[in-house]
Amino acid sequence: MQQKKEVKKKKAFQLVKGMRDILPEEQRYWDFLRDLINKIAKTYGFSRLDTPLVEAADLFVRGIGQVTDIVEKEMYAFVDQGGDHLALRPEGTAGLARAYVEHGMHNLPQPVKLFYFGPMFRHDKPQTGRYRQHWQFGFEILGEADPIVDAQVILVAYKIYQSLNLPVNIQINSIGCPGCRPDYENELKDYFKKHKNRLSELSQHRLLKNPLRILDSKEKEDLPIIADAPQQIDFLCEDCRNHFMLLFEYLDDLGIPYALNPTIVRGLDYYGRTTFEIWTAEEEENSPREAGGEAGRLTDSAGRQSALGGGGRYDGLVELLGGNPTPAVGFAGGVERLIAQMKEKDIKVPEREKPEIFLAQLGSEARKKALVLFEELKEAGLAVSENLSKSGLKVQLENADKQKVKFTLILGQKEIVDGTIMIRDMENGIQEVVDFTKVVAEVKKRLEKSNVK
Ligand code: HAM
Repeated sequence: MQQKKEVKKKKAFQLVKGMRDILPEEQRYWDFLRDLINKIAKTYGFSRLDTPLVEAADLFVRGIGQVTDIVEKEMYAFVDQGGDHLALRPEGTAGLARAYVEHGMHNLPQPVKLFYFGPMFRHDKPQTGRYRQHWQFGFEILGEADPIVDAQVILVAYKIYQSLNLPVNIQINSIGCPGCRPDYENELKDYFKKHKNRLSELSQHRLLKNPLRILDSKEKEDLPIIADAPQQIDFLCEDCRNHFMLLFEYLDDLGIPYALNPTIVRGLDYYGRTTFEIWTAEEEENSPREAGGEAGRLTDSAGRQSALGGGGRYDGLVELLGGNPTPAVGFAGGVERLIAQMKEKDIKVPEREKPEIFLAQLGSEARKKALVLFEELKEAGLAVSENLSKSGLKVQLENADKQKVKFTLILGQKEIVDGTIMIRDMENGIQEVVDFTKVVAEVKKRLEKSNVK
């Protein structure tokens, strides 16, 4: 007797931790946001710049800073087959600044306004709103020191959320410049030294290397100490103070709601002067703010990560990467977090085009003819769908029903012989046979009539 061989099913692969699939049903949000970002970029004169996902690891170490969460803990760094030390980009600004230098963009009329929309990679603890691959849209203005461009960047950020009817509030701070920050850092260092024993291990390590980063700490024991720490705003030099005041004036003129928030120090070393984050308006009212982490270190009452976006001035970055001294300012928003907000607030985006007609066929001749007819219907601008790979009529009609089309065209053996086609009105089930050569015009006529009804 022949024994049945048992086939063991192979273990199915699963998503890598912290990664997400963007399924077809979610794509309309992504299409909508890509269109919106392109439209806003065009309105405000930003050109798109796409940099690769892979850069020299050192670009981020130097650009973002060695003692930052991103570089110390979160960067996907690796050595490739050729022995090069590379990294998946954890953010977009350093690569963009590299491209600005590499392509001699300082020779263009300044400022240069650029934007991007793409994935970033951070090996962080995954949770709702925090993924290891996440997408950002970013807007950057390089080559201008005047605070008016800080206001323009904040305006663009604000417009994105405002155009979606998503109430947001901009949280702003100034972290000074290399001239005045050392005084503040000394003061801060003295203060933290006094509380050293109560600080977390991580913050004690940062106290030696970069005391400002302690303000980014997510550790519980650090929070009360951070709350009473001296604030940068009291240590700003005259230039930084004037820059900050002018920015407020511009924002007031534009009617952009903002709040001064001394804890917005951000998690990347390239910032100086203006720093800001975009919060939902409710967060401003309700949320317990944790000091900590990634620039979006805000958590809402459910403990989810939820800063919608963040940015600031980075006047030293281009020079740090080997370019000429080039003042710059920009921001980036998280796409997944924005889509989550849109869903939560029930913000509608256009549905994908729904088919109005279904083309069904029965028999090999009909199937061939349907293949060509489908193209004619499409060329006539009709929203038509099909199931040409199926041969049973029942399954095709069920499919037509599911898609809620208005009319189904049925091409069977009899119709082929007669040179006709059947049009079935899906609302009342009435079927009518028409001349095959007139089908496009007949369908159009019926659709127009049904749309007028
Ligand atoms: P960032 O604040 O680190 O800034 O990231 C920008 C935004 O990306 C955050 O506010 C958040 O919405 C989203 N985001 C960050 N990490 C994650 C994550 N793991 N999962 C989901 N969403 C995330 C920057 O990256 C700077 N390059 C922004 C900038 C541009 N500054 C000047 N120009």
